[in-house]
Amino acid sequence: MSARVAVLISGRGSNLQALINACATPSFPAKIALVISNVSGAEGLRKAERANIPTQTLPHKNYDGRESFDAAIDAALKDANIDMICLAGFMRIFSDGFARKWQGKIINIHPSLLPAFKGMHVHRQALKAGVRISGCTVHYVVPELDSGPIIAQAAVPVEHDDTEETLAARILQAEHRLYPAALKLLAESGVKLENGKAVFAR
Ligand code: GRF
Repeated sequence: MSARVAVLISGRGSNLQALINACATPSFPAKIALVISNVSGAEGLRKAERANIPTQTLPHKNYDGRESFDAAIDAALKDANIDMICLAGFMRIFSDGFARKWQGKIINIHPSLLPAFKGMHVHRQALKAGVRISGCTVHYVVPELDSGPIIAQAAVPVEHDDTEETLAARILQAEHRLYPAALKLLAESGVKLENGKAVFAR
């Protein structure tokens, strides 16, 4: 039986599209059963609709705090019988309670080789540091931002004439390959969160 996945977005949704494409393969062990956006009109919502995936828009501004926003998300996930969550450009930080409740079942993709370059303006940080390699990371979500146990990474070269835009585009291509592969691993129980580490099945 395939795992029921919710993808949470705030914008463009190109990683969502990569996951939608992967899930279209009959043997893929996961199915996207819900897409939630905290931003009305986010481009990714249209990508979900085109794939006939139910969507919900829950603008965080409609809630009086992090806990009540997270409770609304949690209720939507419960209604849709969701087993696991992929964050794909979701620009909100969860309360500790939500992160703990979904621990081991919630993953994120970040456009750097963590633990380098957390937070915002990641490509600017990488260019400023002068690294010759950057990339992307899929990690378990824990209460602290961009800090959960790492499941998978992909590296790309940083070219001498890269701008934030050219580097972001190269990394994004790697993201679109890495995220479906990491979701597959999670959905097949090929990786588990144990004592704060990503542990792989042999
Ligand atoms: C991606 O670079 C992802 O790594 C980061 O936010 C961006 C989202 O892009 N967390 P998209 O909405 O998936 O196109």
